[in-house]
Amino acid sequence: MFLGLFGPGPNPSACFVQNGDILFWAEEERFSRIKTSPNSYPFQSIKKGFKYLKINASDIKAIGYAWDCNNYKKSAMENLKRTADKYPSSSDKLNLLAQERLNLIYNPEIIRKKITCFLRNEDIKEIPPIYFLPHHLCHAASTIPLYPEAREGAIISNDGVGGIISSCIFEYKNLIINSPLKEVKLPNSLGSVYAALTEFLGYRAYEDEGRVMGLSCYGKYDSYLNKCFKQILKPVSAEEGFYKTDPTFRYNYMRSFGNRFSDKLVDILGQPRKPNESPLEPRFKDIAFALQTSLEEILINMCEWTKLKTNAENCFFAGGIHMNCKANGKIVSKNIFKRCFFQPAASDNGVSLGAAMLAEKRFNKKTTINPKKLDSIYMGTSYNDIEIEKILKKAKVKYIESENICKDAAISISENKIIAWFQGRMEVGARSLGARSILANPLNKEARDLVNLNVKNREKWRPFCPSVTEEHFRNYFLEPNTICNKEYMIVAFDVKKSALNQIPSCIHVDNTARPQKVSKRTNPLYWNLLNYLMEIQDHPLVLNTSFNVKGEPIVENPEQALRCFFSTGIDELFIGSFIVKK
Ligand SMILES: [Fe+2]
Repeated sequence: MFLGLFGPGPNPSACFVQNGDILFWAEEERFSRIKTSPNSYPFQSIKKGFKYLKINASDIKAIGYAWDCNNYKKSAMENLKRTADKYPSSSDKLNLLAQERLNLIYNPEIIRKKITCFLRNEDIKEIPPIYFLPHHLCHAASTIPLYPEAREGAIISNDGVGGIISSCIFEYKNLIINSPLKEVKLPNSLGSVYAALTEFLGYRAYEDEGRVMGLSCYGKYDSYLNKCFKQILKPVSAEEGFYKTDPTFRYNYMRSFGNRFSDKLVDILGQPRKPNESPLEPRFKDIAFALQTSLEEILINMCEWTKLKTNAENCFFAGGIHMNCKANGKIVSKNIFKRCFFQPAASDNGVSLGAAMLAEKRFNKKTTINPKKLDSIYMGTSYNDIEIEKILKKAKVKYIESENICKDAAISISENKIIAWFQGRMEVGARSLGARSILANPLNKEARDLVNLNVKNREKWRPFCPSVTEEHFRNYFLEPNTICNKEYMIVAFDVKKSALNQIPSCIHVDNTARPQKVSKRTNPLYWNLLNYLMEIQDHPLVLNTSFNVKGEPIVENPEQALRCFFSTGIDELFIGSFIVKK
């Protein structure tokens, strides 16, 4: 058994792989109950993995850690010095302190010691080898199981930063990920700029970027902002590194408004939005629009260059930037590649998978990776009916056992009830995909507002996503020529004109949606529910959002499901074979 892990950092996770098969994969936030769990090692996830797989620490042959700790300090300090020399500022000392803190976090001896102590407490006799692996290589490797049949292609990783590298393009041939064709280094970083603007717009950096993406659809072109963004996030030629991001707008300048943007950014964009302030002024929407447009332009250039350079038919994408389903949709719509595959856990929750695969390769002294198909991302913990009923009884809640949970759920949804759906193994990634979901009727015009206000406590304008059976996907959404993965809500599609009035709750203001295609093979229960909805109301679709409230991770176990259910406006809970009503 091979273990991949990453943390501390945003979204620590652990993944277990054996002979290329992905056997268990989970994010630490689900167990720590702290959103993105940024300061943790994924030790609770590893323990849950041991329990689920019925193994112990001694079964681990090698560990892959998704950060090249051995080379980090030297390269980061050199890079920091270079940047400070070029852009001297009053923040130099602050930046140095921040870097020293990172050097300590990613010190290989400290990480080795932490992992060793954890394993010792798991009664291990001999500590397995721990390999420190390049972050972007781990992102890259994590994409291959999406389409292992490919055997060759290009891989594009766009991140905040991994080591000192923010973007990386690889060629993949005969099961070997070759040395990068291109690397973009700090201070240039798409992820850091998007995070800085997320904070400027009053949201949480490295958490709320999706809200900025959603907001961008409400904005419009503004020539002044367009000029500003030519400085903040400037598209340049491939030879110059695709984009330049002037660090004086982020950290190489005085910062008296926020952590991730400087007073110079305020000078050109105006006062930042105060966190949680509403309503949103039009200029903030236009800023989000300018940011998103600049990002998309750069990504398209990157893809076109990659195609020219490699002539690849298949292109794989990972790194936090590719959580941006609008940009992913734009890439697909350009028909540059024959097939595009986006890692659904594109953020750092995905690197543990790549690290586990690379650890297996290195331990076995192979030159090639051994990818097996990632059929679904229901890779976490699960609870059977006996365990669930015990918890329901202990909580003294009234429940009934259903003879047909899918049909009963479909009836409730068609009656415009908001239901919670807790079934099978938990999903990996930011999006609920029908294992820990809140579901509502997409045909109901008011469903979006009701779920936003009564359950999720989100802004009224934020869109929801639909799940649809694979057999009916193309009845609702326009498919470009490029083939892409549609199972994970990771790509935005234009909604067909004929469907615009049919599923109003799941369509964004720009007439796009980020749908989940559901197949009988990978989630038969959820697929059944959708088919019952087809029988009842002629549309095999449901509004699907994550089973949590704002600011909390998605529920992991039945106790958390009950807490979320009883503290929000959800009408009914469908958990295992049981229905809990209020
Ligand atoms: Fe990353």
